[in-house]
Amino acid sequence: MSALQKMMGWIDDRLPLTATYKAHLSEYYAPKNFNFWYFFGSLALLVLVIQIVTGIFLTMNYKPDAELAFISVEYIMRDVEWGWLIRYMHSTGASMFFVVVYLHMFRGLMYGSYRKPRELIWIFGVLIYLMLMAEAFLGYLLPWGQMSFWGAQVIVNLFAAVPFIGEDLSIWIRGDYVISDATLNRFFAFHVIALPLVLIALVAVHLVALHEVGSNNPDGVEIKKHKDPVTHIPLDGIPFHPYYTVKDIVGVIVFLMVFSAILFFAPEMGGYFLEAANFVPADPLKTPEHIAPLWYFTPFYAILRAVPPLFGSQFPGVVAMGLSIVFLFFLPWLDRSKVKSIRYRGPIYKIALALFIVSFIGLGYLGLLPSTPVATIFAQVFSVIYFLFFLLMPWYTSIDKTKPEPERVTG
Ligand code: HEM
Repeated sequence: MSALQKMMGWIDDRLPLTATYKAHLSEYYAPKNFNFWYFFGSLALLVLVIQIVTGIFLTMNYKPDAELAFISVEYIMRDVEWGWLIRYMHSTGASMFFVVVYLHMFRGLMYGSYRKPRELIWIFGVLIYLMLMAEAFLGYLLPWGQMSFWGAQVIVNLFAAVPFIGEDLSIWIRGDYVISDATLNRFFAFHVIALPLVLIALVAVHLVALHEVGSNNPDGVEIKKHKDPVTHIPLDGIPFHPYYTVKDIVGVIVFLMVFSAILFFAPEMGGYFLEAANFVPADPLKTPEHIAPLWYFTPFYAILRAVPPLFGSQFPGVVAMGLSIVFLFFLPWLDRSKVKSIRYRGPIYKIALALFIVSFIGLGYLGLLPSTPVATIFAQVFSVIYFLFFLLMPWYTSIDKTKPEPERVTG
């Protein structure tokens, strides 16, 4: 027995290292027919690591103080060695996180990955998504630019629309009557420690739940239904390591090429990843002409603005915005189709999903624009389609003409 084997034996007697490696990597069997849509889970993990590492380094020079925050970011950009790279990696990483997660969620919608027995994977996913939005919102206040300040002002004021307790609630969130140094301090605490801890825990549970039931695949058929009678290995499964660890590297390389291209050539992405107004220090006395959130929030911002106020209160819009996310949680029970994957679904689901995506992107576009009467009508139509996708789902998925699902995975 070699010294290495002896050492592994010593560790395994005290910690299940080899057993864990086998259970989750070398003897974890994933469907053999994953396509490129299955890259986005591991890419989301990669971006999570990038955000945490660059975040730690930013914190070394950032000052959570209303007097110093803006100039400390300028100091990072100009004077700290490689500071510009760390900051741009973090700001670009935030947008890329949403790009990756939106594609990851879309894959779930296409292949019915939220369906039984993966309901909890999906629910933890939606919680991750909510946490990610909160994390991005809090982080955006930290550079203390004009858009940081006024964006936070608009969003925290939405809480003031809650009947009876709204006013007190918004003061409690801000720790002041306006966005101020107290707000900046608490947003910093939540952004750098509280929410990342919750996010990491949720991702861990997401993956534990995934490994309990095993991945879905583009055919939406369960590989555990057909196992080798002797080895009990799924006939359509291949070991995660080395097959998918190596395949995922291809995704990582392509992602890093795109990420670097943005980072080095267009870190502001024409104002979509970093807004021009945020290069101006926060001025509580000067409201910017047009306040718009970053692109990943704009679909929800458009829904908020599409709903007319009731007795001068924005509360109905706030409720609609909340519901637009709450509906996601119920997806596993709204879908009544006999099959999971879009490959075997009928035309109605395909049209419904296409309309849903068009409305989501349409809302995202409208949320970037100043509101005009015509834009509002479009936002209302898209919002109705968005909600009907969920509300009518039990009906249209049960009458849709599906194709027979194959017994085994194809290709
Ligand atoms: C930080 C964010 C996230 C990370 C790191 C993450 C990670 C992963 C990983 C590594 C996988 C397995 C590989 C793959 O199927 O692509 C996975 C699967 C899955 N994720 Fe996520 N995820 C995140 C967010 C989400 C969100 C927001 C949702 C949905 C709302 C979601 C829903 C799912 C589902 C349903 C599966 C199973 C897919 C299947 O088997 O077809 N995830 N996730």
